[in-house]
Amino acid sequence: MDPIYEKIIRPVFFRQDPEAVHALAVKALRMLGAFAPLRSAMEKFNLVRDENPVKVFGVEFPNRVGLAAGFDKDALAFRAAAALGFGHVEIGTVTMHKQSGNPKPRVFRYPQDEALVNYFGFPNEGAENIAHTLSKTFDKKTKKIPLGVNIGKSKITPLEEAAKDYVFSYNALADYADYFAINVSCPNLPDVRKLQLGENLRELLNALKAADAERASKLGKAKIPMLLKISPDLTFREIDSILETVFDLGVDGIIATNTTSTRPESMAGYAEKIGGLSGKPIFEKSLQAVKYVCAQSGGKIPVIAVGGIYNTECAAKMLDEGASLVQIYTAFIYNGPFFAKELAKSLHWRNNPEWI
Ligand SMILES: Cc1cc2nc3c(=O)[nH]c(=O)nc-3n(C[C@H](O)[C@H](O)[C@H](O)COP(=O)(O)O)c2cc1C
Repeated sequence: MDPIYEKIIRPVFFRQDPEAVHALAVKALRMLGAFAPLRSAMEKFNLVRDENPVKVFGVEFPNRVGLAAGFDKDALAFRAAAALGFGHVEIGTVTMHKQSGNPKPRVFRYPQDEALVNYFGFPNEGAENIAHTLSKTFDKKTKKIPLGVNIGKSKITPLEEAAKDYVFSYNALADYADYFAINVSCPNLPDVRKLQLGENLRELLNALKAADAERASKLGKAKIPMLLKISPDLTFREIDSILETVFDLGVDGIIATNTTSTRPESMAGYAEKIGGLSGKPIFEKSLQAVKYVCAQSGGKIPVIAVGGIYNTECAAKMLDEGASLVQIYTAFIYNGPFFAKELAKSLHWRNNPEWI
């Protein structure tokens, strides 16, 4: 970890309100993203390019480490991600309707556990406004890494109309997405996780697949890979049912996992009871989900592993279980802006020992 971040910047940041620091970080990265000379110099210096770039679900990634959804909810900071070393970035969660999310405070730090609890509930500017932002900032020619777009259900949309909500966001943002992440695993909104199973999931994915096929044939464009983001709180039987639907409908990949609504015993005395826990304490849970998905699918479905990855060993374990890529969020907060670069580099060396 960068000692300046650890000894000077982080202690100052951690004395402030987590959401205020987050807003400040997004602002700084937005400025960096907009200032092309510095951004491209930093990209040259920091973006780790693997010898053999990873190609999964038809998309090429310069390295295996991505920025997970939730950091750049409104697509303001994504242009700076490659300059920090990330090999891809996922914006969102974006919903059809602009919404303010749950009441504050809604982010809590647990430094001794290297963990966070968040109860955001998808605050975002709404799909149309975010598409407008992207229409001004997205530049295919200068973009160095794939952009994932994570979509979810608006709070005001009833569960029965969820598919319409996701399809609206899909259509609004399709021009910018290298892949879509379908978020059905957020623990912070009443109904979202109900979309993970049975007919609800089938109906949702069918509607999205139909929208994708229609767009592809109307515009003569390639289909956009669609990945499903799942919860670490599913039983193995529930994962089996999800995989059945995923294979039936030709979903392109799984992102495992989102935050957990459970708490480890060690945090029982002090962790917020409501909200999704992320960071170090969820690593084992996410690893088990990744392991199970990879094993049950016989490696046939690409997996992006996310959940509590805080060092090279964790990331390597996820890749060894069969994941193709990893993402981080909480470790980015605890280990600093260049942690992705460090991680991508160490994974690169691990794959190419002759380089050491
Ligand atoms: C503050 C915060 C906000 C998040 N918001 C979202 C979100 O909007 N959509 C989503 O799919 N995941 C969201 N996540 C979950 C992360 O993308 C990731 O799946 C989870 O935090 C586990 O990874 P980590 O332990 O590396 O943080 C959020 C996580 C945090 C900590």
